[in-house]
Amino acid sequence: MKIAIVLGTRPEIIKMASVIDEIKLKGLNLVLIHTGQHYDHEMSDQFFSDLELPAPDYNIGVGSGIHGEQTALMLEGIERVLINEKVDILLVQGDTNAVLAGALAASKLHIPVGHVEAGLRSFDDTMPEEINRKVADVCSRFYFVPTEQSAINLSLEGINRNKIFITGNTIVDACFRNLKIVKKKSNNGSSIEFAKINENDYNKDSLLKLNELDNILTLTLHRAENVDNFDRLNNIIDALAELVDMNIIFPIHPRTKKTLENFGLFSKLANLKHVHIIKPVGYLDFLSLLSKSFMVLTDSGGIQEEAITLNIPVLTLRYNTERPETIVAGGNILVGSNKEKILEKAKSILYDEKFLNKMKNTVNPYGNGDSGKKIVDILINSYKNNELKIETPEDIMNSFSTEIIAIDEDTTVLNFEKKNNGNVKVVYTNFNDTPSIKFPLGDLNLKNKFIIFDRYKN
Ligand code: UD1
Ligand code: UDP
Repeated sequence: MKIAIVLGTRPEIIKMASVIDEIKLKGLNLVLIHTGQHYDHEMSDQFFSDLELPAPDYNIGVGSGIHGEQTALMLEGIERVLINEKVDILLVQGDTNAVLAGALAASKLHIPVGHVEAGLRSFDDTMPEEINRKVADVCSRFYFVPTEQSAINLSLEGINRNKIFITGNTIVDACFRNLKIVKKKSNNGSSIEFAKINENDYNKDSLLKLNELDNILTLTLHRAENVDNFDRLNNIIDALAELVDMNIIFPIHPRTKKTLENFGLFSKLANLKHVHIIKPVGYLDFLSLLSKSFMVLTDSGGIQEEAITLNIPVLTLRYNTERPETIVAGGNILVGSNKEKILEKAKSILYDEKFLNKMKNTVNPYGNGDSGKKIVDILINSYKNNELKIETPEDIMNSFSTEIIAIDEDTTVLNFEKKNNGNVKVVYTNFNDTPSIKFPLGDLNLKNKFIIFDRYKN
């Protein structure tokens, strides 16, 4: 089996690392395609070396640009590679422009697409990521979803349950594997030093010694809806200015550095004595920083997941999230760019032990750290069963009817499907009590539940 992977940005490299490891371990053929969307050493190469990944076979080198232009260049470049390489499947991860371009290019060539971290929805169509993940899901054949909630999102959009696999999130694999390395290093007495940066200058100004700081709050900020908006950025900075009891460490995304400078806000932030702006750091250093932090303030997707994995309270600088599981679990609170709310919650985490413990003692919804293995095992199995071929369906419009059925017999989803020749799409529980939606896992018992069922006619 020959597997292609498209990636282009920092989080994709991190989140595909365990899948790449597993592909190598199983001796499968890998074609690694980097779109070049992130290109600075500290946004790309650093992660290949920290995570010990093979160099990409192709780098399309798209660089930065407006959405249409950037996506078009990737689409063209990925298509060319896929035509040459004749792969059995293409994997994409998450919701960046690389995912949109990769999924579209492959599906038009009838190459099956496996979407890692499929099914996430913020239900906010003003986010470029929401458009990317929805289009990628339309183009996909295999959906590797992190949680039951993301599986339900896809079920409700009509995706066949047999193509949806709840695998957990590969970020947990990355966290657990690399935290071991980080802990070993710090046990050997190595302390981390970061160079602080100035406006228009990435050169060393002064060194920040992590081991000498207390009350560390890690901050990251790069989401377009925050950093391209003066008022939001300014509100966030005003809140940070009042958190003087904390040491705020801010590895700054290049996008954010540029917009802060353009808005004339960089020095306002950099002049705050308790705010330490540093370059984006590598994965091992970032995990070190996170594990020494008492809380995180972020608008990142991946960091919401890492924080709950590491039991670190996180305040998310957004008004919605496609990671609602973290909110329900209690480890994450949405604070938007509202100054008062940021201050109130951050101070509660620092000073109110009960509040802090409630946010820390949560169950990680994203799995045990074996997602990469699960994904590759599913691919190997599907390849063996000849399920990777995309063929024209025959008579699709007449092949089934959709029904709502109340079930009173003791039967699992799989048994019901076999007996009735069809496919369970969605399960509703306890109509008399508090109804809820379940994802139709094969061994789920359907007694006293309602189902939406596609009945095949032949
Ligand atoms: C992209 C993703 C976003 C993801 C983020 C991860 C899209 C639409 N957005 O956002 O979903 O959360 O990556 O970090 O795909 N720049 C550099 N050097 C680099 C990369 C970027 O200087 O190596 C600067 C450029 O000025 C560029 C800007 O950052 O215009 C934005 O980069 P871009 O890749 O377009 O989007 P991100 O904000 O990084
Ligand atoms: N990260 C890192 N160094 C940094 C900032 C973030 O290694 O200086 C990692 C972080 O651990 C997480 C990922 O980058 O795994 C998140 O990337 P980002 O916030 O850029 O993107 P998103 O997850 O929002 O798409």
